[in-house]
Amino acid sequence: RPRVLSGIQPTAGSFHLGNYLGAVRQWVALQESHDAFYMVVDLHAITVPQDPKELRANTRLAAAQLLAAGLDPDRCTLFVQSHVPEHAQLGWVMNCLTGFGEASRMTQFKDKSAKQGTDRTTVGLFTYPILQVADILLYQANAVPVGEDQRQHIELTRDLAERFNTRFAVKGARPTFTVPEPYIVKETAKIYDLQDPSVKMSKSASSPKGLINLLDEPKTSAKKFRSAVTDTDTVIRFDAEAKPGISNLLTIYATLTGTAVADLEQQYEGKGYGALKTDLAEIFVEWVTPFRERTQGYLDDPETLDSILAKGAEKARTVAAETLATVYDRIGFVPAK
Ligand code: TYM
Repeated sequence: RPRVLSGIQPTAGSFHLGNYLGAVRQWVALQESHDAFYMVVDLHAITVPQDPKELRANTRLAAAQLLAAGLDPDRCTLFVQSHVPEHAQLGWVMNCLTGFGEASRMTQFKDKSAKQGTDRTTVGLFTYPILQVADILLYQANAVPVGEDQRQHIELTRDLAERFNTRFAVKGARPTFTVPEPYIVKETAKIYDLQDPSVKMSKSASSPKGLINLLDEPKTSAKKFRSAVTDTDTVIRFDAEAKPGISNLLTIYATLTGTAVADLEQQYEGKGYGALKTDLAEIFVEWVTPFRERTQGYLDDPETLDSILAKGAEKARTVAAETLATVYDRIGFVPAK
């Protein structure tokens, strides 16, 4: 079975609809066909200040939401990044292989650090993508299911994998790392803010009314769908350039219901935007209500949740330790006997 690996930050508490449609939904599907490793990336979370109590709660909350979304611990490996020390260990090695200029070109870092100012930006935020490289390479992942905003980090992963493989090639031996492919589903690679469909939906950038948090009161989210920004035209047609607002709603509608966008265009021919928004609001509420209940169910039983994560970490460590041992050997570290 080919292998996939991906991660999600626990920082935000509730996942938003972009996280779900852009990434988590694919994770659920891929556990059927792939050897799948998914993690909550708490090491990445501390690149910005975190309250310890909230971080702990949000890490469990993230795991609960992943299970509620359909990850099955019998069919995938679900774990917390800090439970597997090899991430930090390989991260250091990868830091030493990355050019300073190369890291400086990461657009997510440039955006985030510009917003924070240099004095508040940590070195951890700067090396964040390199830790992500280590996350992926440790598991020899063939593919990495993510949204569009992660593409550059996967490209860096490919570059560093190839660099290591070449620099530390051993004649007759397999290359150290599998070079991974991004797995980005075009239709849902970028879900947009409901109030400003020119920017992606995100915790940091979206206006509260443009952001759909999965764990909010469903009524609140329904209202946001009904007041989503569209254009002054009235025709329901997918056209990402000319009609970004309605196109975003069509994408969300089509994905949540498993309908083709073309069928929706037909279904809503001659009807106004209001009808589509009201229907989408209802569809979302129907989908999210059981999701919220299942999440709460996992939170109500923290022992089960923690034991799922412990088992996941154990499985993950076996794979990660094997890769790290090869890396340490090829670099020339003396084994600790
Ligand atoms: P994070 O936690 O910001 O986001 C989790 C996933 O959600 C996707 N996503 C979106 N997809 C579509 N539309 C949107 N508006 C939207 N917003 C977010 C993201 O692309 C991501 O797939 N660096 C990663 C976490 C990470 C990781 C990894 C991922 C750490 N190590 C190794 C893959 C492999 C991040 O911050 O994702």
